[in-house]
Amino acid sequence: MKKKVISILLVATMVAAMVTGCGNSPASDSSSNDGASAGGGDLSDKKVGVCIYQFSDNFMTLFREELENYLISQGFSKENITIADGANDQATQTGQIDNFIADNVDVLIINPVNSSSAETITDKVVGAGIPLVYINREPDAAEEKRWEDNGWDVTYVGCDARQSGTFQGEMIVDLGLDTVDLNGDGKIQYIMVEGDPENVDAQYRTEFSVKALTDAGLEVDCLSDQVGNWQQDQAQQIVANALGQFGNDIEVVFCNNDAMALGALQAIESAGRTVGTDIFLVGVDALSEALEDVLAGTMTGTVFNDHFSQSHSAADAAINFVKGGSNAYYIGCDYVKVTQDNAQDILDMVK
Ligand code: BGC
Repeated sequence: MKKKVISILLVATMVAAMVTGCGNSPASDSSSNDGASAGGGDLSDKKVGVCIYQFSDNFMTLFREELENYLISQGFSKENITIADGANDQATQTGQIDNFIADNVDVLIINPVNSSSAETITDKVVGAGIPLVYINREPDAAEEKRWEDNGWDVTYVGCDARQSGTFQGEMIVDLGLDTVDLNGDGKIQYIMVEGDPENVDAQYRTEFSVKALTDAGLEVDCLSDQVGNWQQDQAQQIVANALGQFGNDIEVVFCNNDAMALGALQAIESAGRTVGTDIFLVGVDALSEALEDVLAGTMTGTVFNDHFSQSHSAADAAINFVKGGSNAYYIGCDYVKVTQDNAQDILDMVK
C-alpha cells in the first residue's frame, strides 16, 4: 500500500457561477458531505465486485491497483476481490454487474462506463440487496437524491472537478499576463482538450479553468475546444492539428487530464514549440510522467487527483456497508495544485 497523502491536501474555494470554454452548457451543483470510516471485523470471506470503465485508462489503473491493495490491507482476501474491465462499453459492464449479482457479492464498487446509466445500474443492484459505491464518474444530482430519499445503501466517492479546473486556470494566472500573452494583444489565446463527457470532470475542468482566468480579470480567446476522450493519442492529433491551424497564436493548452497533456506535449515538441517559453501547458492527475515534465519545465503544471484518498474512501465506504453501517451519499476529497515548487514531493508520494 502506498503512503497516505491526506495530510498535505489543500482546501480550495468552491465557486458557484458557471462559465463556458468554447461554449458549453452549464453544470449542475454537487453537494459535499462527510466521508466514511470503517471499523474492525472479519472481512476475509466477504466478496467485492469492482467494475472499472476501462482498464487502459492511466488514472483508473492507479486507482484500481491502490483500491485492491487497500482492500487486502483491510482484511479482504485477494481471491474474493474481482475487478472487471468494462472496455468502455456499457453493455459489457452491465453483463459484468449481472454476473456479480448472480455470484452474490457482498458489495459492488462501480466506475460506470456511462454515468447516465446510473439509474438503471442502481435499480438493478439495490433490487438485488447489494450495497453500491460509485467511483470517479459521478451520477447526476437527481440520481443521488433518489439514494437519499429512499435511504438506499448507495454512495459516490470522488473529487469535485471544479476545484481542479480552477487550479489549472490559477497556475496560468500566476504566471502573469506579460508572460502568457506572447503576442501582446491583451488576451489569452488558448485551446482546450476535453475528456470523455461521460465523466462530469471533463465539463467542470473545461469551465472552471477558463473561469479562473476571467475571474482574475483576464480576457480570453478560445481558438479550439475538442474532445480527446482522456486519451493521449487523440489529444496529440487534436493539438497537432490546432498548432497547424493556429500556429503561434496558441498561448495556452488546457488538457482535462495528464494523459492528454502528454499527447499535447508530443505535438508541441514536434511543432518546434517550447513549453515555458513560447507556449504553456497544464493537465490534471499528476501521473509520474507528467510530474517529471513539470520538474523539467516541459509542462507548466498539473493537479494531483488523489487516487490514494479516493480508493481508500471507496473501500472504507464499502466496508461500512458490508458491516451493516451507513455512509454519507457523497464522499469528497481535495485536489492539490502542482507546480515546479512541489512536483518532487508529489512524485515521491506517487512513485
Ligand atoms: C481523470 C482522468 C480519467 C477519468 C476517467 C478523471 O477524473 O482525471 O484521467 O481518464 O477520470 O473517468
